[in-house]
Amino acid sequence: MKIFLDTADLDEIRRAADANLIDGITTNPSLVAKVAGKRDPKEIYLEICEAVDGPVSLEVVGLDRDTMVSEGKKLAAIHENAVVKVPLTEDGLKACRALVSAGTPVNVTLCFSVSQALLAAKAGATFVSPFVGRIDDVSGEGMQLIHQIRQVYDNYGFDTQILAASIRHPMHVVESMLMGSDCCTIPPKVLWQLSKHPLTDRGLEAFLSDWEGLGAKI
Ligand code: E4P
Repeated sequence: MKIFLDTADLDEIRRAADANLIDGITTNPSLVAKVAGKRDPKEIYLEICEAVDGPVSLEVVGLDRDTMVSEGKKLAAIHENAVVKVPLTEDGLKACRALVSAGTPVNVTLCFSVSQALLAAKAGATFVSPFVGRIDDVSGEGMQLIHQIRQVYDNYGFDTQILAASIRHPMHVVESMLMGSDCCTIPPKVLWQLSKHPLTDRGLEAFLSDWEGLGAKI
């Protein structure tokens, strides 16, 4: 399963990229607003693309097909690894088809149902992003959606990649893997939580204390 980092924070991106732990990045307008200040987001997008060797999702903000296609072309021109993110609306699906036909990879975002995921695949999406955490937030079962999309895509041989999004905690990542998601986009905090286990800390403490008793060096 590919791991993407869900952030526009360059320090966090470099930290994870330096450890060779990520396969790409996803951003959205809210994540960019958190870090941009007065900077032009396009500058930030270029820096992100240069920091990571893998797909970087950059989102359009237009609402109609033609504006999305025009914005998508500009975003795709920023870097060869750019993936254009469009919302799962009627116009977003039309823009997806137009961009994919022109050779631009597309991530269809804000997916909350199997029927939406079906249309994203029919529109030729490279990735579809089901928002697991936001479904859980309204008392739904986000992981069930990943499971069902996997089943539908496998039943009919769709090659759109499932990109589990809106990940809130480590078990969302683990369950995404168990459900057969192709990718999972993870906030930096959750990425580092994945490495933590109290028994690892306790075991290390005991090893070091026993070694200290030897008074030896390696
Ligand atoms: C997906 O690409 C989105 O950027 C993201 O996962 C949304 O997550 P949130 O629900 O935590 O905002």
